[in-house]
Amino acid sequence: MKERIVYVCDRCGYEAPKWFGRCPACGAWNSAVEVKRVEKRGKSSPSSLTQLSRVNLEADDRIETKNKVIDSILGGGFVRGQVILLGGEPGIGKSTLALQIADRLVRVGRKVLYASGEESAKQIKLRAARIGASGEIFLTNDQDIDSVLRSSRDVDFLVIDSIQTFLDSEVGSVPGGMAQLRSVTSKVVEFSKRNSTVSLIIGHITKSGEIAGPKMIEHMVDTVLYFEGERTTDYRLLRVYKNRFGPSGEVGIFEMREDGLFGIENPVFVGDDLPFGNAVACVMEGSHPLIVQVQALVSRSKVPSPRRNSIGVEHRRVSAIIATMSKILKLPLDFHDVYVKVLGGLKVTDPAVDLAISAAVFSSLVEMEIGRTVFMGEVGLDGMVRSPYSLKRRIEVIRKSGFDEIAGNFEGANVLIRNLSDLSGVIR
Ligand SMILES: Nc1ncnc2c1ncn2[C@@H]1O[C@H](COP(=O)(O)OP(=O)(O)O)[C@@H](O)[C@H]1O
Ligand SMILES: [Mg+2]
Repeated sequence: MKERIVYVCDRCGYEAPKWFGRCPACGAWNSAVEVKRVEKRGKSSPSSLTQLSRVNLEADDRIETKNKVIDSILGGGFVRGQVILLGGEPGIGKSTLALQIADRLVRVGRKVLYASGEESAKQIKLRAARIGASGEIFLTNDQDIDSVLRSSRDVDFLVIDSIQTFLDSEVGSVPGGMAQLRSVTSKVVEFSKRNSTVSLIIGHITKSGEIAGPKMIEHMVDTVLYFEGERTTDYRLLRVYKNRFGPSGEVGIFEMREDGLFGIENPVFVGDDLPFGNAVACVMEGSHPLIVQVQALVSRSKVPSPRRNSIGVEHRRVSAIIATMSKILKLPLDFHDVYVKVLGGLKVTDPAVDLAISAAVFSSLVEMEIGRTVFMGEVGLDGMVRSPYSLKRRIEVIRKSGFDEIAGNFEGANVLIRNLSDLSGVIR
């Protein structure tokens, strides 16, 4: 083993063998931090080979958390040595979920260590009392990652809350920077693999866009989970962005109650009042049909190239829809700023949201309300509307949720919209 010194930009994570005064990647001054890397030296010994037929797939490899939502989105639970990143904004429920999983695992005889650099033992105890968590969970407030890992040799499940508050004393910089973040994470990953410990790393994302932190370590971990939703509402969506041990793209849905996060099936993210500029959509996220509220604000622009802004749906998707509407419906959108937002803090990926976006934009422009019609369908650049997949499941959920008017281009739609030009018939 040989030690090598590398220099890591504490702001963006850029790495170089030589010290730099100004980071060539992000342009930050004096951001280089010295980091020790341990490397294997000399000829390595030959690898030991295993025949595929001899690989054991013991049932014990999966560690069920007994949290239905978590087990189902992770494909049956944790795998020994798995490292999971759990990201989200402050207050969204990361610590609560971690403690709930810890509780379930302790109750089936696993040893759990909850390492918190954020909250005192008292604060954690208060939360534990609120959610009824077992007193058998071990706690530490030590922020030195080496000490924590040294105390974790016989631990089955390790929670690091949050990774930004831990410190690798071999790295000469303050906690929270990129150099620390990378070093601490790589130590946790290395430890988990060597020791077959499941580690749950909590990472903060701030609203001000400081997503760089957790993003930087996504490639180092096996599984990435992000919470979506808003602190002000009770629903939380947990999305699997990456999973080396199972499918990705699945979502779990929780309701935040006083005594913790509880799995729910088909929440309705729609308010009672739907003034003009609002449209309802049914979108599939993972295997869940969700009924969501899409808002648009269309207002006369005061700048030569009007603004387009979107929250909760991809920017390019909205731009393409606006361009299509201008062309097909001959609407004066080139002279209007358009803002689109999916309510509830959700990030919609299903293209079937297109038709609701179009309807909301139209409704805002003409200042006429639509009501509680549920829109579904992807809109092509030619204005044609496509039928969404999993149509039967969606319709079932829409009806069960108490909406009875459905618009789109498919059999069973109360309002048939084959092409965007049919929209004017809905909004009058
Ligand atoms: N006394 C309480 N009753 C009900 N809900 C609470 C209570 N205290 C906190 N919460 C909920 O828990 C959330 C904080 O969860 P937490 O797991 O600490 O978030 P994070 O770790 O992501 O910052 C709050 O936003 C609130 O929704
Ligand atoms: Mg927390």
